[in-house]
Amino acid sequence: MAHIPRRRFLQNTVTAAAGCSATLLMRNSLFAQASPDAPTRVYLDSRRAMPPLDRNLFGSFLEHLGRAIYEGIYDPGSKLADANGYRKDVADEIKNLGVPIVRYPGGNFVSGYHWLDGVGPKKDRPRILEKAWNSLEPNQFGTNEFMAWCKMAGCKPLMGLNLGTSNPEMAAALVEYCNAEKGTKWSDLRRAHGIADPHKVEHWCLGNEMDGPWQIGHMTATEYGMRAADAGRQMRYVDPSLKLIACGSSSVFMPTYLEWDREVLEQCYQYVDGISLHRYYGNSDETGGDSAKYMALNLSMDHQIAQIESVCDYVQGRMRSPKKLWLSFDEWNVWYRERTGSAVNGGGKFAPHLLEEIYNLEDALLVGGLVNSLIRNSDRVRVACLAQLVNVIAPIMTNATGLYRQTIYYPYAWALQYARGSALNLAVESPTYEIAAPTGSASPVDFSKLGISGTIPYVDASATFDKSAGKYSTFLFNRDLEKSREVEILWEDAAPTRVLDSFTLTGNDLKAHNAFDAPQNVAPKPFDKPATANNRTRLELPPRSYTVIQFAM
Ligand code: AHR
Repeated sequence: MAHIPRRRFLQNTVTAAAGCSATLLMRNSLFAQASPDAPTRVYLDSRRAMPPLDRNLFGSFLEHLGRAIYEGIYDPGSKLADANGYRKDVADEIKNLGVPIVRYPGGNFVSGYHWLDGVGPKKDRPRILEKAWNSLEPNQFGTNEFMAWCKMAGCKPLMGLNLGTSNPEMAAALVEYCNAEKGTKWSDLRRAHGIADPHKVEHWCLGNEMDGPWQIGHMTATEYGMRAADAGRQMRYVDPSLKLIACGSSSVFMPTYLEWDREVLEQCYQYVDGISLHRYYGNSDETGGDSAKYMALNLSMDHQIAQIESVCDYVQGRMRSPKKLWLSFDEWNVWYRERTGSAVNGGGKFAPHLLEEIYNLEDALLVGGLVNSLIRNSDRVRVACLAQLVNVIAPIMTNATGLYRQTIYYPYAWALQYARGSALNLAVESPTYEIAAPTGSASPVDFSKLGISGTIPYVDASATFDKSAGKYSTFLFNRDLEKSREVEILWEDAAPTRVLDSFTLTGNDLKAHNAFDAPQNVAPKPFDKPATANNRTRLELPPRSYTVIQFAM
């Protein structure tokens, strides 16, 4: 199959996007429209708590791509690196963030990666011309280096497997290499490589975006589903405790969207625990550059989750299976600028500058909205990965002398710090705004096909309740680009006694961003702690803002 760049492929198929509903579809959130200048009312009741959210809901992703690994987390020549070559400043930053799980080694990279190239004495490892990003891969960082880095950064691995140019046998071999104690071919090879204790990797992705013609080893849904079933079966013989994730559709714009997922699951349902969802959002093709539309895009994440969940449940019914699959939203972020030419083609070089997207304020606000969508769907989404973590479409950027935090760092950091316990099923009454319907052939995507109606709530809310710690957290996204918005939180059972923390991310310029020489240009500000009286907390959200407030019971 000829190689088709992902962006061109998706542009060609955008108009054929599948979408089932023209109405706003939000699971676990009751939404009602309020009159234009009325305050938004958020009805919150700790008795409407969902099952405890999985910490892996706020994972991330590191691919052998550009400067994510080399010059990002691993740079033996750097004065900021430790004796093993790991950047200490970067590992500390990630540890302090509290990232629970990191997907590795790809992404598109994994579909041409032979894991044996990345283990054993470093001097013997081959230098490879890597085909997904046309880059030089010296294999100086591989599986064991990643496991050691995970320990240093305080996270767990989510390992990707090559089901493109490799096969189920080698997938099971990697499980044996990582998880078997000793006395078998692959576990003894690990021990010969100086690693006595098994890594005990629990979560595995069975390939990456195999529905995409850009993917090395791309195949049909049935072929892939059979290969995933075979891999799952062999891997479970090695370690029955694994959590396995099948490759779902790589985008809602794929012509095979939902069909792919159904056909794949019909082949491998009994061998997997979850299915992957991917989605990158942008303020260009999808929106025509209209920021008011862009701010609504997190609602399409709610919609995508609802659709994939329906496919899983349909196949479960057809299979008469008692098992309910969970969802792994293992690639999500804003990504629309660095998608063509030299931004995605390494020219055969080592650690090229690829996908180094610079994020602005409006991107961070949408990422906040996406955090809200993940929280309110946390009863079904168990794993999700902000794609990615360092230098490549990332919240953290490095150079030879240090690092800085991009705008999107902050909503992600707040999710990690404050989204604790269980998500609450909220009822929200908000004034709304209208978004224009598309006109003409060159117009942006029809939002109704993304599950977004023309009527958008100004305020998007999510909340968590940590019963054991006695804390509530609310995450409030004001999509109004012009005006502040009043909010009343109505505590339907117990009202909180005080505010512990409150911050907002806002600014006058939606296009403002950070840089090495302006690292604090867009950064959170303290938000006046709101008072609570008569079971009601009143506050005013600044225009263009994302705000977190943590309350004590
Ligand atoms: O995250 C960047 C790329 O986006 C990944 O390699 C691929 O899976 C997706 O298309």
